[in-house]
Amino acid sequence: MAVSGGGLRVLFATSEIAPWVKTGGLGDVSAALPAALAAEGLEVRVLVPAYPALLAAFPERRPLARIEHPAGALRPALLSQPAAAGGPPLLLLESAEDYRRPGGPYQDRGGRDWTDNALRFGLLSKAAALLASTDTPLDWQPDVLHCNDWQTGLAPAYLRYRLRPRAATVMTIHNLAFQGVFEPALLAALDLPASAMAIDGVEFHGRISFLKAGLQHCDRITTVSPTYAREICEPAHGAGLDGLLRWRRERSAADLTGILNGIDTGEWNPATDASIAARYSIDTLEAKAVNRRALAGRLGIDAPPDTPILGMVSRMTLQKGTDLVLAAAEALVASGARLAVLGSGEPAMEEAWRELAAAHRGRIGVRIGFDDVLAHLVEAGADLFLMPSRFEPCGLNQMYSLAYGTPPVVHATGGLADTVVDCNASTRTAGTANGFSFTGASVPGLLAAVARAIEAWRDPPLWRELQRNGMARDWGWSTAARRYAQLYRSLRPGDA
Ligand code: ADP
Ligand code: GLC
Repeated sequence: MAVSGGGLRVLFATSEIAPWVKTGGLGDVSAALPAALAAEGLEVRVLVPAYPALLAAFPERRPLARIEHPAGALRPALLSQPAAAGGPPLLLLESAEDYRRPGGPYQDRGGRDWTDNALRFGLLSKAAALLASTDTPLDWQPDVLHCNDWQTGLAPAYLRYRLRPRAATVMTIHNLAFQGVFEPALLAALDLPASAMAIDGVEFHGRISFLKAGLQHCDRITTVSPTYAREICEPAHGAGLDGLLRWRRERSAADLTGILNGIDTGEWNPATDASIAARYSIDTLEAKAVNRRALAGRLGIDAPPDTPILGMVSRMTLQKGTDLVLAAAEALVASGARLAVLGSGEPAMEEAWRELAAAHRGRIGVRIGFDDVLAHLVEAGADLFLMPSRFEPCGLNQMYSLAYGTPPVVHATGGLADTVVDCNASTRTAGTANGFSFTGASVPGLLAAVARAIEAWRDPPLWRELQRNGMARDWGWSTAARRYAQLYRSLRPGDA
């Protein structure tokens, strides 16, 4: 029963939303969390820039309001609402000059950041703040503005310096490594007063930081796993913002909390997945073999039944430790394993993977690019899944793997530490073991954990136990949605 929401209205502001615009987990979260909040009885609207993919998906739109001249150098925009979209209503922020461009949401086709990102996401932040202020042009007024990552980080600052706030603000950190830092000369263009350029304002080492602005001025900070919430308060993972985060946490423990993401079980469920070769469940795991063959065929690897296929789907960056897998690949193949890799990212890493695949044809299969259908097949067809991230705020792929009976091998950090339970004598006795983890992101650490995993894979009853433990847990969004609802309620006057 939908009870916890109690008529709460939430404006969820984001720069990505799956399936239309997604560069990573933020896109997935922005699609699934608002829907889960709505299922809890909350009234949610999602504000997102009108990129070409969204304009094409929703040719019929109802104009709602004009944002005439948001001041500074921010361009005028139109707010519109698609005529019919499943799930919580979308509010599209239309500004052709800002958002109707080929390429990705942040970069051009060549992978270069758009040079006017400060203004593009300044506009998104300003629009979000306006809708959460007493000057909103809409009848619908949110109780809470929920901002996500640096792209919406200036919204709490606009509510502090330029507008009269009506809604409380929550700022979620999906990745502290991306901060949206720009030249100080942009202050006036962003319509911020000189007084904002201060240590308790938007200033960060002499520049303007969108994320810092959000963390400084929002009512509550959340991040996407409890372990990452602790890690970012330390210099090693704090990316220069650990001092601010510690200050907020010390002011009040409620100011910074970790709420573990869920997965969209409508999209990621092996029993109903239309993108894979054969559907299966915890009771029909034999059918996984059909996906294994299909995956091997797609990536051109030979995979006799006694050779484990190690899967990976990832942005190819240092964060994800894809370089560790690169460095370990020859040893893994020499030990008889196969690699099935899907990813895109840093050009040098992409190139290194291409070369490796060419040198080990039939044993290392690599697809460089972003391919949602293949991502599903890797989750379903691989025997185990590699995710040795150096840091990982939450991570969704390890949860997809757990739900797909593909035990993950992970570096114990952030959300990986909160979801993957290393297989050892005590976790087996407790019935919780569901994968393998190692401490210290290093090639020897990774190789040792993979060796343990392969040994377990060669023991079918043990392997089934791990698969079942992963698949039996509910990885869906409802627990997280209830936690967010509680947090929002604590911010609504009279509700706490
Ligand atoms: P991050 O957001 O840091 O990249 P997550 O694990 O939270 O990491 O989410 C990544 C999301 O992007 C997952 O849904 C994953 O399947 C998807 N993904 C990453 N790389 C690719 C790719 N090359 N092709 C298809 N999907 C990808
Ligand atoms: C970020 C993080 C990832 C997280 C995702 C969604 O991209 O890198 O760990 O799962 O956001 O919150």
